[in-house]
Amino acid sequence: MGPRLRHLLELCPKESPVADVGSGHGRLALELARLMPGATVYATEAKPGPARELRRLLGESSPVTVLEGEGLAPLRGRGCRGAVIAGMGGHTIRSILEHDLDVAAELAWICVQPMQDWDQLEAWLERQGLWSMDIQLSWERSRPYRTIRLFAS
Ligand SMILES: C[S@@+](CC[C@H](N)C(=O)[O-])C[C@H]1O[C@@H](n2cnc3c(N)ncnc32)[C@H](O)[C@@H]1O
Repeated sequence: MGPRLRHLLELCPKESPVADVGSGHGRLALELARLMPGATVYATEAKPGPARELRRLLGESSPVTVLEGEGLAPLRGRGCRGAVIAGMGGHTIRSILEHDLDVAAELAWICVQPMQDWDQLEAWLERQGLWSMDIQLSWERSRPYRTIRLFAS
């Protein structure tokens, strides 16, 4: 993992069940599982192809459970305590949260790390009034990344 994901990992509360939404390569989910042996860690992908690749990358004996489905939908009914949504644009992150706002509102915390359009995302998050926000900066190849931690208020 590079500095962006390492910093994100540090900022995640080490509580489970936890889901890495749009996990891609699955490295963050795998590190969360390593830091919390025995914990329930989900890694999600929206589409069958990326979900298959994620399963392949994690391997059969992985402690991470891969779920397939759009955004927060696969988390419904699973009693997740927290979720991470990283590596997507601010508009995509907003639409993921907005589409299943009831699922988002049941989480104790959410860590989001938008690749761009963070200012519009932050304004929208504030307008919801559902969370207290904590914003941290990390750098990778001279580029700043904002990690926004949302705690249920
Ligand atoms: C650039 S990768 C980021 C991977 C990892 N989260 C990171 O930060 O390095 C974005 C991933 O999000 C997935 N994705 C995009 N929209 C999604 C959605 N609505 N629900 C679930 N996954 C989504 C993509 O398939 C892709 O694997």
